[in-house]
Amino acid sequence: MWKQVSALPHIDSNVLNIREVARIIPTNNTLKPHHFTWRSPSADDERAPCPMLNTLANHGFLPHNGREITRDIFLKALTDALNFDQESVDRLFTGALSAVPKFNSSSFDLSMLHVKNFIEHDGSTSMQDVIVEPHAVYHEPTFRNFMSYIPKDANSITIPAAANAKARHFKDMSEINPRFSILQSQQTPIMLEMASTFLVFSHATQKVANRSFFEYFFRNQRLPVELGWAPPQTEILFTNGSREIAAALIKELPTDVPFLYNLGMPTKHSDTEPA
Ligand code: HEM
Repeated sequence: MWKQVSALPHIDSNVLNIREVARIIPTNNTLKPHHFTWRSPSADDERAPCPMLNTLANHGFLPHNGREITRDIFLKALTDALNFDQESVDRLFTGALSAVPKFNSSSFDLSMLHVKNFIEHDGSTSMQDVIVEPHAVYHEPTFRNFMSYIPKDANSITIPAAANAKARHFKDMSEINPRFSILQSQQTPIMLEMASTFLVFSHATQKVANRSFFEYFFRNQRLPVELGWAPPQTEILFTNGSREIAAALIKELPTDVPFLYNLGMPTKHSDTEPA
């Protein structure tokens, strides 16, 4: 059921070969054993509409079956895999727990995040809208459409380029999905998702995302260790960092295309400040 499309078919092995690992490890001691393991999900494994949570499960930082993710498991996964600060990870975990149907649960499953308009929304960067494809799987034409708005010769994705691509991608998706909706209340969460890729796959300044890392991550739901990526030495202050970048993304939205829609129709142009 889960289709994995690889941009680099020769590295679809579960574990990198010894020579490759030896080449990569000395360059950065933030890499952990799970950075070198990756296995695509089987039909019994649960996955989310979130490419990062799926990635962490594919590597084994989160349980590979995608079930019973407790706070301790989640905290270790996000600090080991991405070097996020603990306070931000706690906030993310609390947010995920609110999707759990059982009262007072201390864990969540990835499949519980498929709740329309809870966090899940139309116009994803790499997946089709739920009305078109109910299983949140990577979809190359959707991702290619988003990337078509990033300048072809750019090695980095800038904040203005990402904001422009997101808005134009929404317009294209609204022409495929007659019920396409993006509400004002979803604007900031959507930009926070995009901002997270700048924090994780940035160059030092975090004002641009590395294009190869970004593409590899979305295409493979895998961390781009093979391409030389590693978690940074200093922890990522995720909450503040992502808010700052999300606000910058909103400011850079183009004025000639809408960002907000209701049932396929543009509503008003988005505000330029986060909601
Ligand atoms: C418990 C924590 C998290 C939850 C509950 C969560 C949930 C989600 C959900 C439901 C979506 C789908 C949105 C859509 O419909 O397109 C999503 C997308 C996304 N998330 Fe997460 N996520 C979490 C943590 C993270 C982290 C830590 C990162 C990255 C560092 C991340 C990066 C992304 C990205 C890049 C997208 C895709 C946005 C797009 O398609 O444009 N998420 N997340």
